[in-house]
Amino acid sequence: MPLNIIVGAQWGDEGKGHITDRLAHDAAVVARYSGGDNAGHTVTIAGEIFKLHLIPSGIIHPGVVCLVGNGTVVNPAVLLREMDALAARGIGVEPERLKLSGGAHLITPAHIALDRAHERSRGKEAIGTTMRGIGPTYTDKARREGLRAELFADPAALAEALAVHVAAKNEALVGGYGESPIDAAAVIAEFASYAERLAPYLVDGPVLVDEALLRGDMVLAEGAQGTLLDIDHGTYPFVTSSSPTAGGAMTGLGVGPRMVDRVIGVAKAFTSRVGSGPFPTELDGAAAARLRGTGDKPWDEFGTTTGRPRRVGWLDLPILRHARRVNSLSELVLTKLDILSGLAEIPVCVAYELDGRRVESLPHDLKALARCRPIYEALPGWNQDVMGARRPADLPAAARWYIEFVSAGAGVPVSYTSVGPGREQFIVMD
Ligand code: GDP
Ligand code: IMO
Ligand code: MG
Repeated sequence: MPLNIIVGAQWGDEGKGHITDRLAHDAAVVARYSGGDNAGHTVTIAGEIFKLHLIPSGIIHPGVVCLVGNGTVVNPAVLLREMDALAARGIGVEPERLKLSGGAHLITPAHIALDRAHERSRGKEAIGTTMRGIGPTYTDKARREGLRAELFADPAALAEALAVHVAAKNEALVGGYGESPIDAAAVIAEFASYAERLAPYLVDGPVLVDEALLRGDMVLAEGAQGTLLDIDHGTYPFVTSSSPTAGGAMTGLGVGPRMVDRVIGVAKAFTSRVGSGPFPTELDGAAAARLRGTGDKPWDEFGTTTGRPRRVGWLDLPILRHARRVNSLSELVLTKLDILSGLAEIPVCVAYELDGRRVESLPHDLKALARCRPIYEALPGWNQDVMGARRPADLPAAARWYIEFVSAGAGVPVSYTSVGPGREQFIVMD
């Protein structure tokens, strides 16, 4: 059995956690390959809600091994909190089930302080990051100055590396941004306790993945963020600092493309975005409130990680075509179809008007994207509640037509759709 990759096809929060959990029952290993606790993935089982930031969304299946891969950045305090919260709810997170790749990079309090200071210094140009220290940690990785999780196996080397790290970051924090310095001794003591707890979880990630694939087991790579937040293929500079697209799964787990079978793009039936940057189909006022919800429902469009209201708009086919292209998607999963129930008609953006011309694909240049005006086609809506649908035949004809229209417009088949957050609210399309 092969490697299957789940990627976000939009700006994140497409429902990747829900779909990963749903597809994980056939997997031996579920692995996160990029990002850190900027991600917030929700799994809902029999009304019980699990919010995961670092631990792969396969963890609720007792037989699945979960790997935090080398392409991720890990705040050990957050990882331990998440492990403790899951253990308290009876979910096994022992070293037999949960593995941390030695090549993953560690997020420290100095990275978080720098993320804050840098965002503040950008003023109106701020990215709107999650303030989890993601950018500064990947910056250190690229500068070859990062701290890898493998240091947990060598407490003396860890303390030494942290002393050098905090001293360097304090220069930037105090000298560059006029912020208070970080207390190196406190960080060293804190990380010594993390090392003690996390050392038993360390593995050589690429070996673990290779062994599973050689055994013939299925490995499910769980993407975080989304295609448009990718540092190469997203709306740069309003992106994250890693590669959430399918290519990131190769480097982020240490496996080559010959192993990949399916690349499953997850797209919401409309579009949402958190943070700054252009968003051609963005809505405001009552139309936005209708898609966002009030916050009463657990699935309303407020950030899992930050609680920020998400920006929302209609579905954008140029974005999905871009996602198909840069990920080589084999299929799409359309989530939150239930949210569209009750609309008289549903506009879908089929192309853009850019400087008086019709364009079918997402412009690479951000300034051009900001000038794009959506060209909509209005599809008929449906009134029935679809949350109880379990087969394509249970869906109203207009909902089935919506799915077919999206599939044709994106150029990729829709293999599943979801009609609610629950594990069972999932339809295998014909
Ligand atoms: P992720 O970051 O891609 O894993 O997505 P999030 O978990 O941040 O956000 C998706 C939200 O929508 C969560 O609250 C999910 O429980 C919820 N959700 C997922 N699929 C569906 C669906 O089909 N319908 C509804 N109503 N909610 C869904
Ligand atoms: P999941 O995995 C939505 C956004 C932030 C910001 C930009 C950079 O739940 O889909 P960062 O903290 O990464 O430096 O912030 O990326 N962002 C997300 N938006 N879902 C996410 O993850 C996100 N992770 C980062 O809002 O605009
Ligand atoms: Mg999320």
